Amino acid sequence: MVKALVLYHSQEFGNTEAMAQAVAEGLKTAECDVDLFNTNEGRFDVTTFPQYDCVAFGSPDYFSYVAGGLKTFMDDHYVHDVRKGLKGLKGKPYVLFYSHGGGGKVKSAMLNLFKRVGTIVGEPVESYGKPSQHVLEECKALGRKLAKKSV
Ligand SMILES: Cc1cc2nc3c(=O)[nH]c(=O)nc-3n(C[C@H](O)[C@H](O)[C@H](O)COP(=O)(O)O)c2cc1C
Repeated sequence: MVKALVLYHSQEFGNTEAMAQAVAEGLKTAECDVDLFNTNEGRFDVTTFPQYDCVAFGSPDYFSYVAGGLKTFMDDHYVHDVRKGLKGLKGKPYVLFYSHGGGGKVKSAMLNLFKRVGTIVGEPVESYGKPSQHVLEECKALGRKLAKKSV
């Protein structure tokens, strides 16, 4: 069974959270075992990362950049996996989703930061404010697509 991680940050309105839940639903309909983690609730334990076959990253736009909790994850990964030469993020399929308040410049920041993870699957899904039903369907489809690329 494919083991998937949905790692996201959601703090203000639950916009990114709603997207994360929809991506997880898509992954689950494709028979994946899914863990969700909101970096607003703590620091993700990077030592558990190698056990996942694929990952979905979701962030709100914070000052045109990725939320701090997710940046911390990437910092931890670099220190733990890359520097120590451990098998970690390399080669994992991943997807991106983000919410914003009208700017949305976080997209290019996310593409640039998370490219170190492995191979991106599909196009990042965007939400301006609260995700619409259409956006949530796009998130579910993204989850299903990620599952397909992870077998
Ligand atoms: C500290 C902070 C900085 C933000 N900076 C931006 C920004 O630069 N551009 C933008 O479009 N929205 C910005 N926003 C709005 C959030 O990206 C938006 O409300 C998002 O949907 C919140 O996601 P959440 O409900 O999952 O926390 C900012 C919000 C906060 C709290």
